[in-house]
Amino acid sequence: LTAHLTLDPAFRVAPVHRRTFGAFVEHLGRCVYTGIYEPTHPTADQDGFRQDVLDLTRQLGATSVRYPGGNFVSGYRWEDGTGPREQRPTRLDLAWHSTETNEFGLDEFMTWCRKAGVEPMMAVNLGTRGIESALDLLEYCNIDAGTHLSDLRVANGAKEPHAVRMWCLGNEMDGPWQIGHKSAREYGRLAAETGRAMRMLDPGLELVACGSSGSSMPTFGAWEATVLEETYDVVDFISCHAYYEEHDGDLASFLASAMDMDHFIDSVVATADSVGARLKSKKKINISFDEWNVWYLSRYQNAEPMTGWPVAPPLLEDHYHLADAVTLGGLLISLLRHSDRVTSACLAQLVNVIAPIMTEPGGRAWKQTTFHPFAQAAAYAKGDVLRVETTSPVHETSRFGEVAALDAVATHDGEFTTVFAVNRSVDQPLTLTADLRSLGALRLEEVTTLSGPDPYARNSADTPDAVAPRANPDARLTDGTLEITLPAVSWNVIRLA
Ligand code: AHR
Repeated sequence: LTAHLTLDPAFRVAPVHRRTFGAFVEHLGRCVYTGIYEPTHPTADQDGFRQDVLDLTRQLGATSVRYPGGNFVSGYRWEDGTGPREQRPTRLDLAWHSTETNEFGLDEFMTWCRKAGVEPMMAVNLGTRGIESALDLLEYCNIDAGTHLSDLRVANGAKEPHAVRMWCLGNEMDGPWQIGHKSAREYGRLAAETGRAMRMLDPGLELVACGSSGSSMPTFGAWEATVLEETYDVVDFISCHAYYEEHDGDLASFLASAMDMDHFIDSVVATADSVGARLKSKKKINISFDEWNVWYLSRYQNAEPMTGWPVAPPLLEDHYHLADAVTLGGLLISLLRHSDRVTSACLAQLVNVIAPIMTEPGGRAWKQTTFHPFAQAAAYAKGDVLRVETTSPVHETSRFGEVAALDAVATHDGEFTTVFAVNRSVDQPLTLTADLRSLGALRLEEVTTLSGPDPYARNSADTPDAVAPRANPDARLTDGTLEITLPAVSWNVIRLA
C-alpha cells in the first residue's frame, strides 16, 4: 500500500498550545495514594512525593494537571485536605466507594505541581456545593494575604498564593452518575452565577463550563447549547470528555477512534458557534478536552460492585498494549489538528488510574505503552500546527465505514518540522512518500516508530521497555521527498531540521 502527504508551512492551523499536553490527578484508586504520594516509599522526598513518579511525569512532558476530580470533586469539601494532617477528617468518597483520608490535599497538590513543573488546573464542586465554597476556595488559592482564607493558607505554610488560572465549573454534570447531577438549564444557571462571582474576586481567570461527558450521551448537543446560552459571556471553554476501547475484537474500528474524536470536536465547535451567532457575540468559546484516553470502561461497568470502603484500592488500572498506544497517538493527532479551537486537554489520568505511568506500592514505577506517543508529542510538537494534505488507501470498518490507513499532522517551529503519523491498517504496511519541498533544504533529524509483531504486546514492571519507540532506519530523504515504510498498527514520529 502507498500513501502520500504534502506539507507546506503555509498550511498553518494555529499555534501548538502547551496546555494540549495536560494530564489529570483525581482522588481515585491509587492515583494520589501510592501514585504521586507515598511517604514511606524509598524514593519519597520530605513532602512524601515519589521521586520516581515525579521523574516520569517530567519525562512524560505533562504541562498542566487537573485536580481533584473527576467524579470525586462533586462530593468533595476542599477544606478537608488543608491544615494540620492529624486534624483532617476521614470521609467516605461516594463516587468511588472508597475512604478518603485527606492526608493529601490542596496545598500538597500545589507543592507537587511546582516540583513537577506543571500548571495546576482546579475543579470546583458544583454537585453538593456551590458559589460560596467556590469563592472560598478561590480566596484561599489566589488572594495574596490579609483575608481570613488567604491568611489561613499562609498559616498552613503556603506564603505565596497558588495563583490558579484555569478553573472547571464542576465535572460531568450531565451524567446521572454524578453527585448533584443537574439538567442543562439548572447547571448552566449555577455555572454562570458561580463563574460570575469568581470573576468578581479574580478577573484574570479562565473558566470551563461542563460539556457532555461523552458524545453518546442522550443530551449531547442540546446540553452544550443550553449550558452555553446561560454561560456564554462568563466562560472561556466548554469541556469535552471521551474514552475509547476496543469492542468485540474490532481492532480496525478501534484504531480509527480519532474519527469519532474529530466528529465530536467539530460538533461541539458548531454548537458553540451557533449559540454565539444567536447571541450576536464576537467571542469564540474554545474546547477544553479535559478528559480523554483509552479506557476499557465496559470492564469497569461489568465488574462486581465494590464491597466495603477501602482506602486507595486498585481501581481502573488498565494495562495498555501497543494498539492502545497507536490509537492514543491517533487521538493526539486529532487534538493537534483542532488546535484552532482545542486549546487545552488533559489525558485522564496520570498515574495508575487509566494512566501512562504505573507504580507498585513501595516498589517500582514504569511506563505503559501509551506513555510514548504522549511524551513524544509533548516533546516535539512545537511552534505551529500544520495541516497535511494526504492521499491514502482506505479500508472498511464496522463503526466508521471507510477509514484512511494514514492519519497525520505536522508541527513546524522554524528550526524543526515534525510529522506525527499513524498507520491504522491492522495488517498492511504503508509506504509513505512526503513532499517536503516547500520547507526548503532539510535533513532527517530522527525517525522513530512504535510498532511490533503483536498489537497486544504490553509493558510491565519487569519488561518496561518491551513496547517503546525504536529508530526507523528505513526513512530516506531525497530532493525534498521523504520515503518511509510505516508498519501496520504503528505510531511514527519523523523529525526534520
Ligand atoms: O477519569 C475517570 C472518570 O471518568 C472521572 O472521574 C469522570 O469525570 C469520568 O467519568
